[in-house]
Amino acid sequence: MKALILAAGEGTRLRPLTWACPKQLLPLAGRPVVFYVIQKIAEAGIDDIGMVVSPNREEEFRKVVGDGSEWGVKIDYVVQPEPLGLAHAVKVSRSFINSSPFLLFLGDNLIEVEVASLLSEFKNSVSDALILLKEVSDARAFGVAELDDQGKIVHVEEKPNKPRSNLALVGVYLFSEAVWEIIEGLQPSSRGELEITDAIQGLINRGREVRSYILPGRWLDVGQRNDLLLANSLLLQDRIQPEIQGEVDSESHISGNVEMGGGTVVRESNIEGPAFLGKDCEIISSSVGPEVSLGARVRIEGCLVERSIIMEGCHISRIHLKDSILGRRAKVAGKGRNDCTRLTLTDDCQVELWDSETS
Ligand code: G1P
Repeated sequence: MKALILAAGEGTRLRPLTWACPKQLLPLAGRPVVFYVIQKIAEAGIDDIGMVVSPNREEEFRKVVGDGSEWGVKIDYVVQPEPLGLAHAVKVSRSFINSSPFLLFLGDNLIEVEVASLLSEFKNSVSDALILLKEVSDARAFGVAELDDQGKIVHVEEKPNKPRSNLALVGVYLFSEAVWEIIEGLQPSSRGELEITDAIQGLINRGREVRSYILPGRWLDVGQRNDLLLANSLLLQDRIQPEIQGEVDSESHISGNVEMGGGTVVRESNIEGPAFLGKDCEIISSSVGPEVSLGARVRIEGCLVERSIIMEGCHISRIHLKDSILGRRAKVAGKGRNDCTRLTLTDDCQVELWDSETS
């Protein structure tokens, strides 16, 4: 069994953040989104992974994710020359997959599922596909599946106006070799893409068995900025264990679960968990947390920062930030901590608030 992680999407709904950083590499609770996906796949015992990336992002993925040795797996990179849909991404990966059955996983999907139990259900069946589904309140933004009373999928449709059920395709699929014949014959959809939902429907139309697996746990689809903040908060709540490296002075106070990297210095400040502070940060006369993630080398002085993602190298002074996402090396200088500010800044942005009379 091989796995294919799709990470070539442009992440248009997450702009401006995705101008500078692919969505799958945005940090949540101190780690890029796709690290959680790789870990899930590695835990299920799959050690041969293909990562589909776009040509202009390949280098960044290779640098951040590497060859997979960190997880004890082998990661090969497949370049999708143009963003022509999920089934197109699979099509260009054919020589990587070869004749193996495979797990297809969207690289921006955070799901609470034991991938191993999906695999054993698939291996013990005669199905040519097993599709992970989740009940949602409004399925119109997703691929939607209709099931028979035995849990077989009888119909799938991409983003229908009138969904036939509330079961959304979460973006985790298992396929046998039978899918290749269908993928090779696919035609672009009305949005000009080769849709993986059409490949699934193609299997059904040919009388192949397509089974469903309804996800009992959580599904976090990090499509938009608020989803990213929510996912960050939940991951911090679930995963952060108290671990303080670096220095905290006697006038500072740390409460709740806080993970703090080596070289970080906290002076005259309060840190409230859950929070993740990367390496070599400097926190001075500030209050940070709860639900805050800081990348490495962040400097915060005279601030109140709550429920935010602040990426590496940011410098922030004299401001109250909440529900904010700051890209790498952003610089923000405020006028004080009274008013609360919500910012979404991509890498290297600068924001300065000032009184024209006094400057
Ligand atoms: C894709 C799939 C869709 C699925 C969704 C899950 O949509 O095409 O079937 O429900 O991922 O996130 P996209 O997010 O590419 O529009």
